[in-house]
Amino acid sequence: MENMATTFDLLVVGDANPDVVLSGVPRELRVGQREQLVAAGAIALGGSAAITACGASRLGLRTAFVGRVGDDALGRFALDALAERGVDVSGCVTDFEVATALTVILAGGDDRAILTAPGCLPRLVVEDVDPRLVRAARHVHVSSYFLQPRLAAGLPAWFAAIRSRGASTSLDTNDDPSGRWDDGVAAAIEQTDVLLPNEAEALALAGRTDGDVIAACRQLAMTAGLPVVKRGARGALAWWDGEPVIVPALAVEPMDTVGAGDSFNAGFLAAWLGGRGLSASLRLAVACGSLSTRAVGGTAAQPTLEQALAAIKTPEPDAAAGVTRVGPR
Ligand SMILES: Nc1ncnc2c1ncn2[C@@H]1O[C@H](COP(=O)(O)OP(=O)(O)OP(=O)(O)O)[C@@H](O)[C@H]1O
Ligand SMILES: [Mg+2]
Repeated sequence: MENMATTFDLLVVGDANPDVVLSGVPRELRVGQREQLVAAGAIALGGSAAITACGASRLGLRTAFVGRVGDDALGRFALDALAERGVDVSGCVTDFEVATALTVILAGGDDRAILTAPGCLPRLVVEDVDPRLVRAARHVHVSSYFLQPRLAAGLPAWFAAIRSRGASTSLDTNDDPSGRWDDGVAAAIEQTDVLLPNEAEALALAGRTDGDVIAACRQLAMTAGLPVVKRGARGALAWWDGEPVIVPALAVEPMDTVGAGDSFNAGFLAAWLGGRGLSASLRLAVACGSLSTRAVGGTAAQPTLEQALAAIKTPEPDAAAGVTRVGPR
């Protein structure tokens, strides 16, 4: 961090941890110390913020990441994986008291169970982020609000300060494991330029139980600058200037959708910060989300800008890709 003259397009703050992914897991897990064999196992970089940072770097944004990891092999794995993908991790904090978080994903059929040991994640605070790094960034993105309550508590004032000097902010709350969706999040959303929930999260944040995602998006637009809602295989939806803007997903045969939302975030921010219009930014984001599902883990199939643009422009199956069919629905 010596060279503070460096400017970053994007500073991502939040969670980084290894994901242990087991595939082909039977729906019924046996207890009683019985061993069950599954089809495959892999370890990959996880954490919504970390996956977003890698996606943005792959798309060409100068990206820095700040998070907390333990003084252990899991933490080194996460930081090395980020650095290998061109993300600046010089501002990360090592927690000498609590271990790195670890997620185990049990994937079977088209569903998955996600088990997370939060480790030092809840100990991240805004004061962990070097103010010089914040000043060096055009845009600050925060992921996983509900996993990091101390960071969450400081977010409204911190985002307000960032905006007051002309930089912009975005937030992907992700799920609230407690299911409470506490009221404090509204204050953070008021200081958020781009809010990036998925459908279930948008409904919960808007306090709606009727499943009307378009209404939830409209409602969130009253406080967030721009709500952008991720809709899995249905693509994405935003609310701008009194109107919904709807974009379909690409037709892919997903191998693993872990991190699709985070890759979508990276795509949206790269396009939006690059000066593209809303509908072009949504299309690029959807391409980044959809393309990322072609491989196991959050970062392995994240596209370059060229690849994402090519996917939008190529309506027919791309033989050269060899992995999957890509094209608009
Ligand atoms: N089955 C799918 N087919 C095609 N595209 C998909 C599929 N699932 C996800 N995507 C792409 O990824 C984007 C984000 O997906 P999703 O709605 O699952 O986000 P999310 O729930 O936030 O994901 P995450 O698990 O990363 O938090 C979608 O807008 C779409 O572009
Ligand atoms: Mg998500």
